[in-house]
Amino acid sequence: MKLILFVWLVLSAVSELTSADNFEVWGSWYGGFLGQVCFIAPPHLKGWRLLVRFRNDVEGITTWNSLLERKVDNRNFILRNNFFNGTPQPGTKICCVIEGRTKNSIKPEAVVFLSDTAITATTTSRRPPTRRRPTTTRRPTRTKRPTTVKPAPMPPASSGNTPNYAEVLGKSILFYEAQRSGVLPKDNRVKWRGDSAVHDQGLRGEDLSGGWYDAADYVKFNLPMASATTMLLWGLYTFKDAYTLTNELDNMYKSVKWPLDYFLKCWNPKTQEYYYQVGSGKLDHNYWGRPEDMHMRRPAMKVDRHTPGSDVAGETATSLALGSIVFRQKDRAYSDKLLLAAKSLYKFAKEVPGKYPLKDYYDSSGYKDELCTAAIWLYRATKDSNYLKDADLYYTDELAWAQDWDDKIIACQMLMYEEKRTRRHAQVVKDFFTSWRPGGDVPYTPGGLAYRNKWGSLRYDANTAFLALIAAEDGLMVDDNRKWAAGQINYMLGKNKENFSYVIGYTNNYPLHPHHASSSCPNPPATCDWDVFDSTKPNTHILYGALVGGPNTHDHYIDKRDEYEYSEVTCDYNAGFQSAIAGLIKLQHDNKLPPIVG
Ligand SMILES: *[C@@H]1O[C@H](CO)[C@@H](O)[C@H](O)[C@H]1NC(C)=O
Repeated sequence: MKLILFVWLVLSAVSELTSADNFEVWGSWYGGFLGQVCFIAPPHLKGWRLLVRFRNDVEGITTWNSLLERKVDNRNFILRNNFFNGTPQPGTKICCVIEGRTKNSIKPEAVVFLSDTAITATTTSRRPPTRRRPTTTRRPTRTKRPTTVKPAPMPPASSGNTPNYAEVLGKSILFYEAQRSGVLPKDNRVKWRGDSAVHDQGLRGEDLSGGWYDAADYVKFNLPMASATTMLLWGLYTFKDAYTLTNELDNMYKSVKWPLDYFLKCWNPKTQEYYYQVGSGKLDHNYWGRPEDMHMRRPAMKVDRHTPGSDVAGETATSLALGSIVFRQKDRAYSDKLLLAAKSLYKFAKEVPGKYPLKDYYDSSGYKDELCTAAIWLYRATKDSNYLKDADLYYTDELAWAQDWDDKIIACQMLMYEEKRTRRHAQVVKDFFTSWRPGGDVPYTPGGLAYRNKWGSLRYDANTAFLALIAAEDGLMVDDNRKWAAGQINYMLGKNKENFSYVIGYTNNYPLHPHHASSSCPNPPATCDWDVFDSTKPNTHILYGALVGGPNTHDHYIDKRDEYEYSEVTCDYNAGFQSAIAGLIKLQHDNKLPPIVG
């Protein structure tokens, strides 16, 4: 290990940028820190590496905007450029955000060395060191993070006007990691989260631990959970390259495996029972605190041969079937297991038709759309044409309203178009996207945001954006769909009149008071209860990557925990959004990204 470092240092000596203490810490708390290192791109840079050498041991290093190429030891880390910032214009400022932990809450200090990836004899010009930053950001070590301190302004992470999609993709995956229920694995990156609800169980003591918490709360609702999983898997299926290019593929496999593992626990083909919910909305919503501390009753609800639930079972079968396709190359045995469960769960959903009993939350409007998508993905997974015949029975030509946890009519129509390629199906799909354009059925804000509904307006746009990017791949309204999708997503990432990012922890201007319990809680042993909810302090922890509900019809956002129409975050909101981001990364890589407007 030492040798590698030595060789690397010798190589990099020619183009050493600086040995200044130029790692800027924005915040450190409880042993964790967040900061960045920047450099000005020299001429003729074709790929670059940074050696970041900390003065003390650090662990759990996560990098944004650059890829962690190698951990040499506990102090030395080699970062490599991402695909989108490897060959910057000379003079561009490149910043790499680094998050990690130190022992004993020592504020990290580091020196950084820059190197070209291809070092040649001509790289002789020694560049001036970047200016040493005053160490005014140093804060006294405290037992908890000072919640009134907003992170220092974050300069744009990438050159030019294009949002940093790769950073957003990585952070969105991290949001789902923060939503994990059950026993967390050793590689959990969200350090303020621990094991919780490990005793969730069915009526006969079946293990139902795992899965994702729905939103701010700790109920596990399988209809939105499966819908989110489907949208994420669909994005991974269509735009896998984006995950590979950004080095997020492994993180993504782990991310989607979490709910899939949970669904396998919820479905028992022998007894024909499917658990669709754990936790009571009523009991849970009376609690504001950490999931690790909760002690209210968490009842489990099921459907079976006497109680239909074709919507929730159908959607879960969709996730399982799609999961089996996505994992086919990676883990054959797991893929087979998912497919087996998908087949039997779909059969159950079909044979015991009807909507599931849940009415107070996530009341379902129907189940044919879920059965349609389940049948098509099962057809793709098995090549058994009976599934496609089934899908035809559940298919409708009606103009879809939007894609969300309840409504998959447009998804069914698009998948059917992909299978049949008829003019009829093409027209149905095109009509949907046309209805979403200005002058169609969907109102727009003055700032150009499509506004389907005040509840999770951004989620509807993001879902439509993701589907628009798929439609473009399918050859439908190609340029127009890409342009519209990029415009809507860019709005969410700060291309709006308030330069406000609706993604938490992205840019320096984002929601600080999301309606989300666990991230709002101070570190233990401090109490977390409704006083925390009521306080005007920002959430203690940055819930990286979460997309909030959105602005009002006048492009205005209210950053308050109790204004959850604006500030709520959910598994459902992020899913189509993350997949749209993946689509944009793919376009960016292929040089097909529409130019930024406005
Ligand atoms: C938003 O950013 C643009 C470009 O940097 C700037 O000109 C404008 O003044 C900013 N608007 C606000 C409200 O901060």
